[in-house]
Amino acid sequence: MSKGLGMRKAIADRFGDELRFFRGWIDQPKAVGSIIPTSGITARRMASIIDPTSGLPVLEVGPGTGVITRAILAHGVKPENLYAVEYSADFVKHLRRCYPGVNVIEGDAFNLDGTLGDDGPKLFDSVVSGVPLLNFPVPARVAYLESLLARIPEGRPVVQLTYGPKSPVPPGRGNYTVEHFDFILRNIPPTRLWVYRRARH
Ligand SMILES: C[S@@+](CC[C@H](N)C(=O)[O-])C[C@H]1O[C@@H](n2cnc3c(N)ncnc32)[C@H](O)[C@@H]1O
Repeated sequence: MSKGLGMRKAIADRFGDELRFFRGWIDQPKAVGSIIPTSGITARRMASIIDPTSGLPVLEVGPGTGVITRAILAHGVKPENLYAVEYSADFVKHLRRCYPGVNVIEGDAFNLDGTLGDDGPKLFDSVVSGVPLLNFPVPARVAYLESLLARIPEGRPVVQLTYGPKSPVPPGRGNYTVEHFDFILRNIPPTRLWVYRRARH
């Protein structure tokens, strides 16, 4: 491919993703939660919590157009070891086309047992979540986190992005720890990353 054509294709891919994301937000503003995808810097920082040598698959929740999916694969996770749960049928179609081999599952992450089904993996290395938690009531956020922590080994992380100043899952509501992982200015809007783990006894 010529350099000019490669550049035009890269620009089309980038803005194609952003347009698709924006359309998704128009259709379902509460579920999508943002008008543009996460930045590459944020995506790479989130993927950094994964141990690609653990031998366990990885769970991504709310992949949207796949910015974080791409970072997870670049971090060394094989496509067949990545399970991505997405609510929007349009995003699912796009993800299946752009990320062949990744297990893209259409469904509700708040009902993980139903969505992953009996044949899905029981245990993951870690979870990367882009679901806009602030749009859900606190008890639903706590139940969501507990359901994710139930699927990873004790001590392994769930990383969650949010645009608010505080942890979207408040401490002291269950058997988990809350750690402020990063604040990333180079994201629109600037974002905070939080890490949750099962509390050790
Ligand atoms: C803020 S966007 C993040 C998209 C992408 N990870 C990124 O960072 O650019 C939230 C994504 O979560 C998805 N989502 C929202 N509620 C969901 C649910 N209950 N189950 C699965 N996915 C959900 C939305 O469809 C959307 O793709």
